[in-house]
Amino acid sequence: MPTPATSIPAAIRWCGDTSGHLELLDQTLLPGHTEHRKCSDVAAVVEAIKMLRVRGAPAIGIAGGYGLVIAAQEAHSQGLTGADALAHIRARGSELATARPTAVNLQWAVDRLLRQIEAAGAAPDLMNLASHLLAEARQIHEEDKELCAAIGRHGADLIPEGDILTHCNTGSLATGGDGTALGVIVTAWEAGRRFRVFADETRPLLQGSRLTAWELVQRQIPVTVLVDSAAAHLLKTGRIGCCIVGADRITANGDTANKIGTYGLAVAAKAHGVPFFVAAPSSTFDLSLATGTEIPIEERAASEVLAPLGVKAAPAGAEVFNPAFDVTPAELITAIITERGIIQKPTPATVATVLGG
Ligand code: MRU
Repeated sequence: MPTPATSIPAAIRWCGDTSGHLELLDQTLLPGHTEHRKCSDVAAVVEAIKMLRVRGAPAIGIAGGYGLVIAAQEAHSQGLTGADALAHIRARGSELATARPTAVNLQWAVDRLLRQIEAAGAAPDLMNLASHLLAEARQIHEEDKELCAAIGRHGADLIPEGDILTHCNTGSLATGGDGTALGVIVTAWEAGRRFRVFADETRPLLQGSRLTAWELVQRQIPVTVLVDSAAAHLLKTGRIGCCIVGADRITANGDTANKIGTYGLAVAAKAHGVPFFVAAPSSTFDLSLATGTEIPIEERAASEVLAPLGVKAAPAGAEVFNPAFDVTPAELITAIITERGIIQKPTPATVATVLGG
């Protein structure tokens, strides 16, 4: 039975042509409100990435790409030319690329657009440059849709019978397509497989309950939300056929940074003999890093823990440890599903074989 057409709004859309603007679905308002936020300057894009209005590794890469188009518009409207214009665009590129440190897709996308700038020479026509940048940003956006589809196809054949446990949000909201881990789930469902998805709530910002459950409800795929600390207990029941998660950065040996709580989930899955899959496009791999110990881990504001959703939950005076990501060692990962194929039992050799690194 085909999945009904979804009413999930686009997480990212470029409106108009070279002089147009970016609109981002404000994910901090979900699931209560669907509202797009207009970004007409780079500062607004950087703010949206930092505040997780747009989030998920592939999505922040796409937004960063469009951000560079806006940087070229800014240089034009400020009357900058030659080296001054290029310096402005490069400086904005650096602000975009460093808005969040863990997901490598952001730096990857910004670097890809910066290469267009290098190719444009020392004194480019700025609106012409903006038009090349827009074409490249659109290309990254479009490609991501294809990558998600390919990941979905590879992964749907791999996942075993049984219910599925996932963490954070890896769907349409986090990518340019149907998603990575969630894309696998959606593809398997559309192919006729039947299961229930268990979505970890994903503290402290609740991407699992606010976003993943919202996407699955709209797709009419059965979903159950659980608090993160119930996951090990659920795995012990034996009803979970596999865990599947996304990634923010994967190193050359297969170590995987993903939303905080992923590592604990992988440990619990291993303890109960449940396969643990990671789904990610090649743009999430950072083959310049040998192991996960080199991945920068973002630490976020104490207020996210002290007052989640604005409700006081801990006394003033308590210190907070709030890493946004953790690293799952490769040996806990059954396979990594990429658009280029499946990396079984990730090691430097198996990663290089599939990614050609
Ligand atoms: O802090 P977030 O919400 O950006 O974290 C997102 C995740 O950890 C996702 O699992 C990851 O980026 C993959 S999204 C396809």
